[in-house]
Amino acid sequence: MNVRVLDSDPLEHVTPLLVVGVRQGTSEPSGLLGRLDAHLDGAIARVLSAGDMKGRTGDQVVLFGPEGGPERVLLLGMGKGDLEPEDVRRLAGRATRVAERIGVDALSIAVDVEGVEGPHAAQAAAEGVALAVWKFTELKEAGDDDPPVLVDALDLFLPEGTAEAAQEAATAGAVIGEAENFARTLQSRPGNIATPTHIADEAVRMAEEVGLDVTVYDEEALEEAGMHAILAVSRGSEEEARLIVLQHNGGGEGDAPLVLVGKGLSFDAGGISLKPPAGMEKMKFDMSGGAAVIGAMMAVANLGVKANVVGIVPSSENMPSGTAVKPGDVIDTLAGKTVEVVNTDAEGRLILADALAHGAAMKPAAMVDCATLTGAVVVALGHHAAAVIGTDQALVDELRAAGNRSGERCWQLPLWKEYRKQLDTDVADLVNVGGRPGGCITAAAFLREFVGDVPWAHLDIAGTAYGDEPRPYLRKGAYGFPTRLLVEWVRSRSA
Ligand code: BES
Ligand code: ZN
Ligand code: ZN
Repeated sequence: MNVRVLDSDPLEHVTPLLVVGVRQGTSEPSGLLGRLDAHLDGAIARVLSAGDMKGRTGDQVVLFGPEGGPERVLLLGMGKGDLEPEDVRRLAGRATRVAERIGVDALSIAVDVEGVEGPHAAQAAAEGVALAVWKFTELKEAGDDDPPVLVDALDLFLPEGTAEAAQEAATAGAVIGEAENFARTLQSRPGNIATPTHIADEAVRMAEEVGLDVTVYDEEALEEAGMHAILAVSRGSEEEARLIVLQHNGGGEGDAPLVLVGKGLSFDAGGISLKPPAGMEKMKFDMSGGAAVIGAMMAVANLGVKANVVGIVPSSENMPSGTAVKPGDVIDTLAGKTVEVVNTDAEGRLILADALAHGAAMKPAAMVDCATLTGAVVVALGHHAAAVIGTDQALVDELRAAGNRSGERCWQLPLWKEYRKQLDTDVADLVNVGGRPGGCITAAAFLREFVGDVPWAHLDIAGTAYGDEPRPYLRKGAYGFPTRLLVEWVRSRSA
C-alpha cells in the first residue's frame, strides 16, 4: 500500500473520499471541519444541527463536494473521552469499509486527533487501512461479498509542522500492517497446507526476501541438538517437525539479542488426549504465536531496527496414532529436565520448553514468547486482552505499554512460587499439567523452568489471536495478534 503524508490543503485535494473525524458533542464545525463546512456551503453545520451526525463512535455521514476537491467527504464519529492511537486505527478501519462499499481504491484521511501526536496518528491510520484491506482469498473463488476493489493508496493530512516525521511513521505503519497480514495469511491456511514444513518454507522465502538470516532444524537436526520435547509431540504425526530460527543483525556485533519465541503448532488434535470434535477445526490457528513471530521478524527487517533480534518458532503437528506420545510417558528436554506427560493436549508447553531453552542459550537481553497456550486464559480475560506473565517486572511493564500503544493489549497475571507446586510429580522433574485451578498461570510456571535466569515474559494469546467477530479494522478469522505488540516492544528497546 502506498501511503503519503501531504501538507497541501485537503480542500483542494482531488480524491474520491476524504475522511474527517467528528467528536461527540460537536455542535458547530470549527478548525478543518469549519473550513470544510464553508467549502460545502454549510452542509456540515446543517448535518450537525439536524442531528444526522451525533459524533458517536462509528456514526457515518457522506456528503458530496463541489468539483475540484474531494468528491465525497465522510464524517466519522469518534465518540467522547480521551483518544489514543487505537481510536485512529479504528477510524481508518471504518473508513476503509466505506471505501469498499463505494468501490474506490484511494482514501484520504485528515487525522487531527486531539491528544494523539501526529506521527503516532499517522502510523495508526496506515496500520488501520493496511489491516482492514486484508482478506484471505487464496482458497475460494471470488464471491458477491468480496469488495470489487481494495484500497491501495492512502493520503494523510495532519496538523501543520508534523509532515516529515509523520511520513516516516506512516510508512512504518504500512510496513507493520503488511507484516501482520503475512502472519494472518499463515494463520488462515488450514493444517493440510500450513504444515511445519510449509511454515518453515514460507519463513525461509520471507527471510531471503527481506534479508534475515535463517536456519531450519529438521528432525535429524532436532535429534542431534537434543530437542526431544518437540520430537515427542510430533511422534504421532506423519508430518515432520521443524524449528525455525530467524535472525536480524541490526545491533552491534556481540550485543545481546532480543529473542521472540512463538508456538507454531500447525494443528492441535490433542494427541491421544484427543479433543472433542466441536470446534476442532479452529486448532489450525494453534500456530498463531509462530505466525506472529515470523510477521514481527519481517517487520523488524523491513524497518531496519537497530537491535539484534532473533525469532524462534518450534513447529509440530499434534495427532493421535500408534506412535504418539501417551499419557504417563516421561520425556526428555533440551534443558535436561524430564517431564511426565499426563495430558498430551498440553503440548504447546512441551515444544516451547525446547525452543525457550534454545533461546536462553543465546544469552538474550530479554526473551518474550507468545502462544495459544490455554483455554484458561479465555476464561480469565475473554477476547480483549492476552495474559502477560513473566519473571521480570520491568519487561512485563514494557509489554503492557507496547500493548496499549499497538492496540494489542495484555494484562498481567501473577507467577508466585506457590503455583509451581502444582507441577510436582513423583516420577519426573515436572508434570505437564497442573490441574484446573490457575491453568493459564501454571502453564507459564511450566515454561519458566526452561528460561534459566533470562528476563522472560510469556503472552497467552489463545483468546486474542483469532476470532469469529469482525473488529473495526480486522475481518473475522485471523487477527495476527500480537505481531504489532512485538514490533512495538522491539522498537521501544532499540530507540
Ligand atoms: N492449543 C490449546 C489451547 C487453546 C485452547 C487454544 C482454546 C485456543 C483455544 C492447548 O494446546 C491446549 O489444548 N491446552 C489445554 C491444556 C490442558 C490440557 C491443561 C487446555 O487449555 O485445555
Ligand atoms: Zn493442546
Ligand atoms: Zn495447542
